[in-house]
Amino acid sequence: MHSQADSRPGLHAAIIMDGNGRWATRRGLPRAAGHRRGVEAIRRTAEACPDLGIGTLTLYAFSSDNWQRPADEVGGLMRLLRAYLRNETARLARTGTRLSVIGRRDRLPEGIPEAIERAEAATEAGDRLHLRIAVDYSARDAIIAAAQRLQGADTSRDAFGRAVAGEMHGSPVNVDLLIRTGGEKRLSDFLLWEAAYAELHFTERMWPDFGETDLAAAVTEFARRDRRFGALAPAKVSAAA
Ligand code: IPE
Ligand code: IPE
Ligand code: MG
Repeated sequence: MHSQADSRPGLHAAIIMDGNGRWATRRGLPRAAGHRRGVEAIRRTAEACPDLGIGTLTLYAFSSDNWQRPADEVGGLMRLLRAYLRNETARLARTGTRLSVIGRRDRLPEGIPEAIERAEAATEAGDRLHLRIAVDYSARDAIIAAAQRLQGADTSRDAFGRAVAGEMHGSPVNVDLLIRTGGEKRLSDFLLWEAAYAELHFTERMWPDFGETDLAAAVTEFARRDRRFGALAPAKVSAAA
């Protein structure tokens, strides 16, 4: 199923974690309160993955376009990232979770790139779940950078996919199931190359309220989908033969 280099067993689920701000505003709380509760949803969701057959989970935490938000919101999100790396690494290692951060690192506040490297090194042996968190991530920028780097030298899909992933510090993957919380139905520049044949699942649930039950429901619906990758479903192939 994975034609590119990702050989990790299990499904690759990716989640656009949207709705933190609206979750908070509806409760009369500052948007930052929604982002803080969102971190708890990350822990719940990641820990539910192995039992649901998910081997890789990619979470969209901060897009390159999110730099346009007010400085205090951006600052709050970066503080949460710093705290997450500091406080969660031991738990990730204990639960067999390998952490990778994908996205650009050159615009992150001082000290964060080093904290990312430390967390990645400390969790490297995790083999129950590969948790990839996307920060300062733009799929379009990855594709542009890969095209510039390769300059037509090797335009096979595999080589180009490796370059696209490499631009964002990742390895090549195919997303099986792409979930967006918060009710919007758009991709917002997330994994445009890697999600070419992803099954899409949109839920009204705001990210701070998301958890194991919602993830299980998405996986159950995914299992009922008929993935054809442009060919015909197996039953139709034999009927036509
Ligand atoms: C998602 O929640 C988290 C980030 C984009 C950082 P939002 O902050 O976009 O929440 P809404 O969409 O405004 O409710
Ligand atoms: C996408 O959400 C980015 C993340 C969840 C990190 P946004 O809230 O930034 O997306 P738009 O602006 O609604 O498209
Ligand atoms: Mg949003």
